[in-house]
Amino acid sequence: MARKIAIIGLGHVGAAIAHGLVTTGGADELIFIDTNSAKAEAEALDFQDAAANLKYDVHIVVNDWQALNDADIVISTLGQISLQKTGQATGDRFVELQFTKQQVRGVADKIVASGFHGVLVVVTNPVDVITALYQRFTGFPANRVIGSGTLLDTARMQRAVGVALGVNPKSVSGYNLGEHGNSQFTAWSTVRVHGELVGDDADLDLDALEDEARRGGYTVYAGKEFTSYGIASATIHLVEAVLSDSHEVLPASTYQTDLETYLSYPVVVGRAGVLHKAPLQLTDSEQQKLTESAAYIKQRFDDVYA
Ligand code: 2OP
Repeated sequence: MARKIAIIGLGHVGAAIAHGLVTTGGADELIFIDTNSAKAEAEALDFQDAAANLKYDVHIVVNDWQALNDADIVISTLGQISLQKTGQATGDRFVELQFTKQQVRGVADKIVASGFHGVLVVVTNPVDVITALYQRFTGFPANRVIGSGTLLDTARMQRAVGVALGVNPKSVSGYNLGEHGNSQFTAWSTVRVHGELVGDDADLDLDALEDEARRGGYTVYAGKEFTSYGIASATIHLVEAVLSDSHEVLPASTYQTDLETYLSYPVVVGRAGVLHKAPLQLTDSEQQKLTESAAYIKQRFDDVYA
């Protein structure tokens, strides 16, 4: 069964996702969609130049919307680099919203028209609101529309805690939850290293670690004017969980019925997308932060969808 993935937006993030999929054999067929056809064609040709030296073969088509018909996954990474630079300067991903909302309306219509019936993975920022807009505009069931959310912020928390404790980030469990943005938080009641609660370690400055994760994107932006490898790896992790029907628990941006919004909460991910929420016992304080983050995202969605 050929694993077929469409990437909408071949900027830094889309190209990094494509590179990660090609070099790890994560896809058999790729569809590159971009308003800048020359760029998309050049990316495809560049990958063809890699073929002789790559372990895996991938067939790539460019700007063929009808090819989405039998795609397993569509990934939206579209965005506007100049707005992303503004966002990095202001520390607010919402600066992109007016541009990306307009783009998403048209892209959603084309995805629906193609007959696509797989899982839509959204990276476009501000990702929680944009994922909610895609779900509304496409009319797809919410379980098939998933945002990368705090998958990346969780990885940044794992990195920060790993450095502080001298362990590999993969050995740090737990989650950042809520908005992929400034209202996110580290659920310290879930963060453990070799079974021990990191939050009980009196030698650690938890607030500093939490802020390091929350602001990690802006730190990278400040040096290279965009981010790519972190978000690409998080997105590929989510994509692989869907394609392999792994039933892995991931903190992706998903629709929370009780909170009436999209935000990141641990969910079990499989071939059908979100299978169900993972049972998580947050502390009262953490639950309050989640509710506040949800209210912020919902308000921003209501403002833009009205
Ligand atoms: C980040 O934080 C792109 O929003 C993404 O790197």
